[in-house]
Amino acid sequence: MKLLFINGVNLNMTGVREKDVYGAQTLEEINKEISAHFKGDDCEFFQSNSEGELCAKIQSAHCDGIILNAGAYTHYSYALRDAIACTSVPVIEVHMSNVHAREPFRRVSVISEVCKGVVCGFGKNSYILAGESFKL
Ligand code: DQA
Repeated sequence: MKLLFINGVNLNMTGVREKDVYGAQTLEEINKEISAHFKGDDCEFFQSNSEGELCAKIQSAHCDGIILNAGAYTHYSYALRDAIACTSVPVIEVHMSNVHAREPFRRVSVISEVCKGVVCGFGKNSYILAGESFKL
């Protein structure tokens, strides 16, 4: 199975920013653990702070599933929402933190409606749970 893990804006700062919320591991370390978990699968990892690059990556994706942590773009990017709506690849929205237990603006997602499902609140395991769901 080919899985594409996409991380959006500021996720490159994981392990450096707000460690109490996102943990002390870097994104690279988390991605290594995800790769090890899905060792029989073909995993690709992509991170960008640019909304346009994230849209382009979704548009050109050829895989069985996309696991997307769009970061703050989740809450207001209609461009990302439209990119998800026009791909035939199923997309799962993920968040490491429980966005529903945080500031009110984080409870709004403009992408959930066009995603297959949402996983949040399980730290790095949110990515693994979302990836596993493609195997059910
Ligand atoms: C996040 C939650 C977002 O609200 C925030 O802007 C992030 C990370 C998460 O993984 O919990 O950058 O998507």
